[in-house]
Amino acid sequence: MKCFSFRDKLRFRQQKSAPELKTFGSGAAVHLIKSSCSVTSTRSIPELYEEKAQNLRVFTLPELKLATNGFSRLLKIGEGGFGSIYKGTIKRLDGKGQMITVAIKKLNPAGMQGHKQWVAEVQFLGVLDHPNLVKLIGYCAADSERGIQRLLVYEFMPNKSLDDHLFNKAYATLSWTARLQILIGAAQGLAYLHEGLEAQVIHRDFKSSNILLDEDFEARLSDFGLAREGPTAGHTHVSTAGVGTLGYAAPDYIESGHLTSKSDVWSFGVVLYEVLTGRRSLDMNRPKPEQKLLDWVRQYHADSRKFVMIIDPCLENQFSVAAARMIAKLADGCLQKSAKERPKMSEVVRVLMDASQLSMGDQSPIEGERAFMSLPDNSEPKNKEDQAGPSESWKKRMGHLTKLTEHVEGTHKGRRMILMMHREKVQ
Ligand SMILES: Nc1ncnc2c1ncn2[C@@H]1O[C@H](COP(=O)(O)OP(=O)(O)OP(=O)(O)O)[C@@H](O)[C@H]1O
Ligand SMILES: [Mg+2]
Repeated sequence: MKCFSFRDKLRFRQQKSAPELKTFGSGAAVHLIKSSCSVTSTRSIPELYEEKAQNLRVFTLPELKLATNGFSRLLKIGEGGFGSIYKGTIKRLDGKGQMITVAIKKLNPAGMQGHKQWVAEVQFLGVLDHPNLVKLIGYCAADSERGIQRLLVYEFMPNKSLDDHLFNKAYATLSWTARLQILIGAAQGLAYLHEGLEAQVIHRDFKSSNILLDEDFEARLSDFGLAREGPTAGHTHVSTAGVGTLGYAAPDYIESGHLTSKSDVWSFGVVLYEVLTGRRSLDMNRPKPEQKLLDWVRQYHADSRKFVMIIDPCLENQFSVAAARMIAKLADGCLQKSAKERPKMSEVVRVLMDASQLSMGDQSPIEGERAFMSLPDNSEPKNKEDQAGPSESWKKRMGHLTKLTEHVEGTHKGRRMILMMHREKVQ
């Protein structure tokens, strides 16, 4: 599923050298920040970027060609709205030691996303720093007679995306524990964006294909090309053109163009149901009543006995019904019609942690409810490794979760206002 901006057509600017990113942020945002600086001490993303820009490497096109064997099709690992992604290897900054494996995103000049998104991605990821966000190593901007070239170089994520593991039959089933671990990580990433920074950041394109998985299957949020700063102090929302992905974008945002962090919370609710059910938010290959996931799950309320029928059959009996109910209720909260009623992401993190603990103590998860599942008892898990207990790193991580949540709750909230709009189309 690719994202589209329908009103805000992309315009490519001619550049002869590496971009002066500070001049490319939203004009509205930059203006507002300047006018509000005397009142508050918060800084905008472009201002924060100026401080941190030196942490990003600037690559030349020949360097990245070399890294990818001339953008070899054999090294192509993905394709999205922005362009193609290649696996590559680059030298370390000091030129010593082993080469670093990276993912290189190459803008497709004919694509629907483009330079503006590229600049946003560089600025946001140049500033953001959290274990649940993908790390941007650097970028390349080159113009030649063949046109403009815009590339991004990221840390390589060896385990693809949550979307791949939930919906692509070629992958082994993600265990219940792994699902919870990924959800908590993704929620912590969003909580950091919404509540853990000087400037609030709204992702605007949160979905399972933008949750990449690192070597430990920890979630790493990616694709900040549509991200925007949140409203400034005294404002309830940012007015913008609607952008996002159909099936994930909050209806109130699509209708009104009023963007708040609660738009991301809605999208998180959609992903919660995708993880519970193993179904895509929109799936035109299913019978009509089942095509829209949110419409379908509405018939199986979390407190009803038939609730377990919506749980991903690939999980067989290896999940906690009590925790699943808790997560479905959380999802319903995230999917409240009124944005104000939706929980903050720090609250979402806390509930998911509770669900995770409940799962750990739930020894016979679906006892008494199997009749509704039509699944064999004592089924072997599909993938024993995945279905095994939590890893050491996960246990360690759980120990730190409470502290992290407390930290997020104590941090400053964003206060910027910016205009935007967006929408997407299903292909
Ligand atoms: N840093 C990375 N490391 C490893 N693989 C990556 C990385 N970034 C992206 N990929 C791979 O490339 C795929 C495509 O990513 P991309 O973000 O371009 O498209 P998408 O998320 O599928 O769609 P959209 O353009 O709507 O976001 C991902 O699903 C993932 O498998
Ligand atoms: Mg993506």
